[in-house]
Amino acid sequence: MHRWSGWSSWSRATIVDSPDQQTIDFDEYLAMFCAELREALAGDGEVVCAGGREGLTLDASRAVNLALIASEAVTNALKHAFPDGRPGKISVECRRQSGGGLLEVSDSGIGIKRDTREDAMGLKLIRTLVKGIGGKLRIDSTEGTRLQVSFPL
Ligand SMILES: Nc1ncnc2c1ncn2[C@@H]1O[C@H](COP(=O)(O)OP(=O)(O)OP(=O)(O)O)[C@@H](O)[C@H]1O
Ligand SMILES: [Mg+2]
Repeated sequence: MHRWSGWSSWSRATIVDSPDQQTIDFDEYLAMFCAELREALAGDGEVVCAGGREGLTLDASRAVNLALIASEAVTNALKHAFPDGRPGKISVECRRQSGGGLLEVSDSGIGIKRDTREDAMGLKLIRTLVKGIGGKLRIDSTEGTRLQVSFPL
């Protein structure tokens, strides 16, 4: 069983105090998040953390929302994408794009099946969090699963 807790890196992320608000170095946060994911997988799968040189400093509430989204998406990949222990790859990336930022979590697994559980909380929570930051969600499951959240900066 993987010992994955998507949150522990949060407490070590760099919190930058500016005169008007607290901001989080999100590049650094994601790098730690991926390092912990790698450790939890202990060689069972490949973790790619792209980006990290974007100078993405986010206000605390946006950063918390994005961190929760990334955490839910990675938890889903670990839980559903690779049945019977097949090897796979999970990638996490946050980068700038025109008009804002893009968070992307993808996996090389089996993809989301049509008959997914209606009562499940993870995707609902993701939708609510995306709305909370004024973002847009796209989920593409044609080859593995790719979840993209574009958000204003
Ligand atoms: N990365 C993925 N690969 C394959 N299937 C997925 C993936 N993510 C989600 N799913 C499917 O979509 C369903 C809904 O996901 P969701 O996160 O809402 O619920 P859950 O993970 O089953 O339960 P919960 O998140 O409430 O613990 C899952 O049950 C699973 O069948
Ligand atoms: Mg889930």
